[in-house]
Amino acid sequence: MAYQNLLIDHSDGIATITINRPKSLNALSTATVAELNLAVEGVDGDREVKALILTGAGYKAFVAGADISEMTRMGTPAALTFSELGHRLCDALEALPIPTIAAVNGFALGGGCELAMACDLVYASENAQFGQPEVNLAVIPGFGGTSRLARRVGPHKARELIFTGDRIDAKTAAALGLALAVLPSDGLMAHCRAVAQKIAAKGPLAVSQAKKVIAAGSDLPLQAANALERQAFAALFGSLDQKEGMAAFLEKRPAHFQGR
Ligand code: HXC
Repeated sequence: MAYQNLLIDHSDGIATITINRPKSLNALSTATVAELNLAVEGVDGDREVKALILTGAGYKAFVAGADISEMTRMGTPAALTFSELGHRLCDALEALPIPTIAAVNGFALGGGCELAMACDLVYASENAQFGQPEVNLAVIPGFGGTSRLARRVGPHKARELIFTGDRIDAKTAAALGLALAVLPSDGLMAHCRAVAQKIAAKGPLAVSQAKKVIAAGSDLPLQAANALERQAFAALFGSLDQKEGMAAFLEKRPAHFQGR
């Protein structure tokens, strides 16, 4: 598959998708969001891939938002279709069985912040800035930002950020829990790859179940969430990897997981 707006790399069990429209600060056009949907589908079907990193081309932006020059021509039906396309992408990222990492290498605004928040782990470069500035354009977040930002930083802070459209720097994002850590720009990708490689060496079924249980459990009452955990924990004892992981520990050797 040849992409016009993305660069795709697969190495050492890690897929990296780079949004590659640096002249418009990697703004998400409809074509770009459609390609992202296809690329995520491709990762979903690939058993060799153990983690996905999402980033933007260049050092200035992760994604500076949905493409304003395109949205300026939209009416309500087109805006709904565009919003649905972005929601499908963010939902697909969350539904992937592997961990996803946003390497936020600059502006993550509007749809860019929403895309980052659909990833499991978010790391930011020192020059990163996050925000939902849609009210400046007299619209609101349209790729899930109202719900995901509220879940990430709490509804009170989400209201302030969305009502004011204020941008926050990487340190503030980390203090709010929106980013996990702040890295020097030239060390961001190495850090994200190191995290991805560490995860890739673990039992893939266990990582996948952990992702699923955390996501499903966060929207459930505690007892229901714990019931899901018990089911998933027990089900993993039916896997070859569980036998291998525990045998390797007792035999004092590295484990070789097969994802079965
Ligand atoms: C289209 C964009 C863009 C965007 C930047 N560019 N952001 N083009 N859509 N979201 C383009 C600029 O027009 C410019 O093109 C080039 O990228 C460089 O941007 P500058 O503004 O010159 O850079 P700078 O002065 O450094 O300012 C950076 C910036 C600013 C602070 C990020 O560009 C900015 O405020 N961008 C818009 C951010 C935003 O409002 N995002 C939310 C969009 S709404 P030229 O051709 O002039 O060089 C959204 C909704 C999501 O995301 C849901 C949809 C359903």
